[in-house]
Parts: sequence; structure tokens; C-alpha cells
Amino acid sequence: MLDTALLKEFQQPFLLSTDMIKHIAVQFRKAMYAGLCGKTSPLKMLPSFLAAPTGQEKGAYMALDFGGTNIRALLVELYGNGHYAVIRQRHTPLKTSSYDYTADSVSAEELFDFIASEIGQIAPAAALSLGHTFSFPSYQTNINNAKLITWTKELKTTGVENANITQLLSEALIRRGLAHIRPAAVINDTAGTLLTAAYSNPAADIGSICGTGHNTAYLEPWYHSTPMIINMESGNFDKLPLTIFDAKLDTNSEKPGQQLLEKSVSGRYLGELLRLIINAMIKNGLLPAIEAKRLNIPDAVTTKDLSLLMADSVIDLTTVLTLYERTSLQQIAALLQKRSAQLTAATFYGILCHIDPKLERRHHIAIDGSLYEKMPGYAQTIQATLTDLCGKSMTSLSTGLIKNGSGIGAAIAAAMAKK
Ligand code: BGC
Repeated sequence: MLDTALLKEFQQPFLLSTDMIKHIAVQFRKAMYAGLCGKTSPLKMLPSFLAAPTGQEKGAYMALDFGGTNIRALLVELYGNGHYAVIRQRHTPLKTSSYDYTADSVSAEELFDFIASEIGQIAPAAALSLGHTFSFPSYQTNINNAKLITWTKELKTTGVENANITQLLSEALIRRGLAHIRPAAVINDTAGTLLTAAYSNPAADIGSICGTGHNTAYLEPWYHSTPMIINMESGNFDKLPLTIFDAKLDTNSEKPGQQLLEKSVSGRYLGELLRLIINAMIKNGLLPAIEAKRLNIPDAVTTKDLSLLMADSVIDLTTVLTLYERTSLQQIAALLQKRSAQLTAATFYGILCHIDPKLERRHHIAIDGSLYEKMPGYAQTIQATLTDLCGKSMTSLSTGLIKNGSGIGAAIAAAMAKK
């Protein structure tokens, strides 16, 4: 018989009450303020040098979406009035069984030469501006100049941190005979998501990624001479009620102490949290020994397993479990998912309280990423948490999926740079 009291002990630390969520939102808002004022803050609050688009940006642009272990090159046509089309695109992994451009044994030049040759596969002969979505914390001095502060999402390629990303890309394009493809803008994927949503919806002022990584950008109305999209790098927020499992995951990670919100929220880490919890449950006699080698391998349990568990699909982790044990595991998986969506919603509420404390204007939160798009119940939990926090004002707030925002947004940014 399962020890229900002990099971509750495992579950309890993952439960967030409305008061706790409100407290996190308040802390988040304070961190935003500190970051904007240049004080020490877990939020980098990086200026993008871009405001919202008008929706009338037009023309053909190349786009590069570099956000993790896959890259995407696109040829995009912007038609104005919020309309666009992807004319050509090419997806390529940076890591396969025969090569790994994300490893520290690879140089920046090798990585960007590979990226440039991928762009070359779909680039037309005509001269075109290129927008580059580079989804890592980067310090910008203008719309086309970004310096990588630090890799996240466990990328390790040597020589990219502290380097000028646009220069690395431009030089690689020239080396590959693609001098006619000229980088014109570099943005974060959260900014790209926001730009794409705002291209057709003027109420869009928050853009977020809930996928392998996690981060949010918003349109800052007050702190710059004109409204500006700020990449918060909110994945690094750290005023959180973390559990012993979060602490263990952090200690074992590439960069302990960094990206604590991302480590408790994003798809890159939810499976690993689940693996750590399953092993602790086995150790405490809550689950029988499960014959799955991957339980001993860091990162071998993935967010997909979390979804499969919740959908009650049979996987190697559940074959020896009784119905009751399987249900207890599903409850843990559901709690991890719920906490992720609630923490994300808390940060959205913190932003809303900063940009419009009385929620008097319309706001749209545009969200992309596999968790938001594919994980059953994820989008609904964000919506329900925001409804709980905003009360009646929720009528002026909407949330919604925006697909391919990082690719299209790069093209929009390139068009805005032209102006
Ligand atoms: C990066 C952000 C990015 C997010 C989503 C994080 O790891 O630091 O820049 O926006 O992932 O891709």
C-alpha cells in the first residue's frame, strides 16, 4: 500500500497558493525595476532598440532563427497589413550522431561557417537584408550589434561568449560567398514573438517562449526616450520557492546558480526534474525499482515522457507499476507542469503590474514554444492563473499561441532596421 502521507511530502513543495504566486509577481516586478535602473537584478532587462512594428513593413528578407540545438533559415515575404508568407525554409540540427556544433571543442568560426552554408542553401542570388534571431542573453548597443553575455540551454561552442554575433555571422557569410546577404538586425526570440504578434495586433505588448528555454520580452513604455522592447532574460529570475530537486538539478547543471526560473519551468529541464523525483521515490519505497537504465542517466527522461505519463501512455517507466503507483507518478508530472505554467503566469502578472498597474489598457501576451503549444493543459493553466490574479480586469487581457514568431520576427526586425 502506498504511503500517502509520504507521497504528500513529495508533492507539497511543488504546490503554489495564490498568495505565493502573487508574492512571486511582486518580487518579479521589483527585479524589473532594479534591472531598469541599472541596479543588481537577476533580470538583465536588455534593450532591443526596437519598438512595436506598424504592421506596414514590407518586402523580402532572409531570416535566421538560432535558438538552441536546431537552426532554421527562412526566406520571408512581408506584405503589410499584418500579412506575411514563408517562401522557403530549411531546418538543420546543430547536433547529430556525426557532428556536434554545440560542443566546446568547436570554434565560433566553425559554427558560423556551418550556419552560413545552411543559409546559402536557400538564399536567392539577389541582395537581401537578413534578420537574425539569436535566442541567448545578448547585450545590444544598436539594432544590429549583439554581444553574447553567456550561453544558456547547455550550449558550449567556444569563442562565442563575449563575441560580436553579427560580425561572426557577416564574416562567415562572406567566407561562404554570400556577401549579398547582409545582416541588418539581431533580436531575441521573445522579441521576435512579440514583433510577429504586434505586426497584426496592436494590443500585443508581451512576447514569451515556453519551450526548451524560457524567457519573456515586453514593450517598455517608460524607461527609454521612446517605447522599446526589452528582453528581460527572465529565465534567470531567482526569487522562487525552490525544492530540493530544483537544487539538485541546479548543482548538476553546466552553470549552477544561473537560470533558476528556466530550470524550474522550461522543457529542457522538466524531464530531468521528473527523473530526480522518480529516483527519490524509489529510494523512499514509494515506487518499486523500475528497470529503466535511463533513470540513471542525467537528462535521459524528457518533457515528452512527462506528457506521455499524463496521457497515461505505456512507457518503460510505468510497466512495473500498479495503477495506484502510476497515478502517483502522474500526479507528480502534472504538478511539475502546473508549477511551470503558474510561475510563468506570475511573471506575466508582474510585467502587467509594471506597465499598466490598474490594467486600464488592452494587452495581448503572445506565446510560442513546445510546452505552450503541445503540453495538454499548459495554456489553460496560464490562463486560469492570470484570471485568478487579474480578476475582472482579465477582460482586457488575452493570451495566445504565435507560431514561428522567431523566424518571422527576424524578418520584421530587418524591415524595421531599413527605416
Ligand atoms: C535564453 C533566452 C531565450 C530563451 C528561449 C533562454 O535560455 O537565455 O535568450 O529567449 O531561452 O529560447
